[in-house]
Amino acid sequence: MKFGHFDDANREYVITNPRTPWPWINYLGCEEFFSLVSNTAGGYSFYKDAKFRRITRYRYNGVPMDAGGMYFYIKDGATVWNPGWKPCKTELDFYECRHGMGYTRITGAKDGVSASLLMFVPLKTHAEVLKLTLRNTTKKAKRVKLFSFVEWCLWNASTDMENFQRNFSTGEVEIDGSTIYHKTEYKERRNHYAFYGVNAKIDGFDTDRETFLGLYNGFDDPDAVRAGKCANSVAHGWSPIAAHQLDVSLRPGESKELVFTLGYVELPEAEKWQRKGVVNKKPAKAILKRFDTSAKVDRAFAQLKAYWDDLLSRYSVKSGNERLDRMVNVWNQYQCMVTFNMSRSASFFESGIGRGMGFRDSNQDLVGFVHQIPDRARERILDIAATQFPDGGCYHQYQPLTKRGNNDIGGGFNDDPMWLIFGTVAYLKETGDFSILEEKVPFDNKKGSEVTLFEHLKVSFDHVLNNLGPHKLPLIGRADWNDCLNLNCFSHDPNESFQTTENKTKGSKAESLMIAGLFCVCGRDYAELCARLGRKAESARAAKAVAAMEKAVEKHGWDGEWYLRAYDFFGRKVGSKENDEGKIFIESQGWCAMAEIGKAKGMPEMALDATKKHLECAHGIVLNQPAFTKYVVEYGEISTYPAGYKENAGIFCHNNPWIIIAEAIAGRGEDAFAHWAKIAPSYTEDRSELHKVEPYVYCQMVAGRDAAKPGEGKNSWLTGTAAWNWYAVSEYILGIKPDYDALVVDPCLPKSLGRYTVTRRFRGATYEITVVNKSGRGKLAKPVRLPLINGTRKFVVEI
Ligand code: GLC
Ligand code: GLC
Repeated sequence: MKFGHFDDANREYVITNPRTPWPWINYLGCEEFFSLVSNTAGGYSFYKDAKFRRITRYRYNGVPMDAGGMYFYIKDGATVWNPGWKPCKTELDFYECRHGMGYTRITGAKDGVSASLLMFVPLKTHAEVLKLTLRNTTKKAKRVKLFSFVEWCLWNASTDMENFQRNFSTGEVEIDGSTIYHKTEYKERRNHYAFYGVNAKIDGFDTDRETFLGLYNGFDDPDAVRAGKCANSVAHGWSPIAAHQLDVSLRPGESKELVFTLGYVELPEAEKWQRKGVVNKKPAKAILKRFDTSAKVDRAFAQLKAYWDDLLSRYSVKSGNERLDRMVNVWNQYQCMVTFNMSRSASFFESGIGRGMGFRDSNQDLVGFVHQIPDRARERILDIAATQFPDGGCYHQYQPLTKRGNNDIGGGFNDDPMWLIFGTVAYLKETGDFSILEEKVPFDNKKGSEVTLFEHLKVSFDHVLNNLGPHKLPLIGRADWNDCLNLNCFSHDPNESFQTTENKTKGSKAESLMIAGLFCVCGRDYAELCARLGRKAESARAAKAVAAMEKAVEKHGWDGEWYLRAYDFFGRKVGSKENDEGKIFIESQGWCAMAEIGKAKGMPEMALDATKKHLECAHGIVLNQPAFTKYVVEYGEISTYPAGYKENAGIFCHNNPWIIIAEAIAGRGEDAFAHWAKIAPSYTEDRSELHKVEPYVYCQMVAGRDAAKPGEGKNSWLTGTAAWNWYAVSEYILGIKPDYDALVVDPCLPKSLGRYTVTRRFRGATYEITVVNKSGRGKLAKPVRLPLINGTRKFVVEI
């Protein structure tokens, strides 16, 4: 069953039934001010950091779900309705939600009035603009009452949900004409406030939640709306809100447009006040003025559209397969940008208070958008590197507001350092900007500790070599990419987190084959980079270390038909046919096969065959088999999940592309494409009811075959799946790969892809590459290297 459809020409997903199986959301904002908005106008806004600068309040896991948002109520006679159906859930005559690139347009109609709400964050603006168009579609005059509503968050989203003995006494607001200002804590240590204004005279307002809603009501039945009148309440403590009342008359056929602006302002200490106790409203007024007419809003909206047109013009394909084209041309790239902005912080599954910017996550996200905004990738790499320690280890995450690393979700993950090489090499190949390697970057943000970024790569590389185990394989540390394979945790206390509890690394023999494969891939990149930089000795040293690692894997990491996953604390095999459960894992098959370890002996292909045989199911490739059915203390969190979920035999979509890429490297185009299509959101659209989450973006996990409901997706949007699938489909299936001094064409195709054209901007030029799979073999004998060019040029590559 479907709940809408793709509108490819407009790059929108159009939801036509508000009762989606889960809130289907979108992100507004691409720089510093962000909003999450669901298809029924639920959601919230924040500035830079969803934890420390939350602007509006949102309750996760509420009942009913997805309550609270950017609501508008229309009272037409005795009927009250919302353009987005919720929260009143009055049956609408028409409903449509169009999620587009950085904007959402929700339209509802009832009894001859239609309300269309366009929401977006204009470029370079610390505000969300909401343009509401009300139209009388009847032949009679109409008078309706319109109410807006948002609930302020007391800035720190974490204490906002906990510290009520204080919170209920701190709320402060100011009202100035049609604008409501939220200034809680402004008089003390904060230098920022928020505001919500409208470009018309208002007929009333409320800023106290209890007054507006009524103590015993939910969002679906506010007292003020029922009465048709706000009480002009001024909040003192409790829960401050912003609600406007506008009485609107519409002649037959008439439309009226109103512009609401929800903004954020920061001021230097000396300029905070207009006069004693009154906030300096000048900057807010300047923002309001920029959007005080529809024409101005339309111009800002056109700029946003042009911005996305440009971003998406950097890689596009015409293949005749519309599900492939819409993933590549629109949604996969869009999701990559969102994951770049958010890392794993704020979605409808990530609360915005749990996680900041992940070291490994952000490096992987880079490959998804570096072709679009290389400058921001550059900045991101330097920020990430600055949270590294002198020995190459690193904090697992940092907060975007401070850019300082922290241990809130653990540390000592021994795969982390490798990802810095991975991200940096992707940046270098895209841009050719070697100057980044000369940038001075501190360790742990400590002044005086600066070394070049190149030195950071070197300590990253050495971190693996300095942490080898008894089989000369990489020690796993707290865990590798799989946060839940906690081989040194031995946790018995349900109140401790597997990621932060004390580890027993001393004397541990726990080694990771996943890091071994990762090390070979990134180590070869590092060796090649050194050679290009003329650092011959370092290049030779790196190549030798990689060769030794390959040997170690061949000797100690092969189980006969597939690669082992690890050795545990005691030096026993993990991911072997000798095990009862967890005999085979996906991660080591992906990485060791990508690294082509044991190629001469046919190991990569055998591993890929075993993956297909043991791990593939109808909805994708599961993480491990057999699933764990009991808690294994020496394996940690992986065995805590019920079978078929998350890291315990769920389809953890993030690692499926590793297999896709390995298949492409092995030249098996049918398999590569089949794996890709299984998890591609556009292919899940027809089974939306089962899949549950948005059919336009990837989710982190789809329930595996051991689960109660195989195929059910969870944790959509913020996942490395986006970048990895982008990488797999753009560089390995369609096969257009940036390299230091060429654009390489090296596709791996199924029979169904006979011909396609990719338009790729690269180093300032435009390549129009048509690939014709004439022989049907799907793979070139040798990759074609297209030289650097100027202007636009067409190329035809025949297979
Ligand atoms: C989550 C984390 C990622 C980790 C993965 C596997 O997606 O964001 O860092 O690698 O889970 O545990
Ligand atoms: C949990 C999740 C994993 C995530 C980690 C982040 O262990 O299962 O996916 O990466 O938390 O802290």
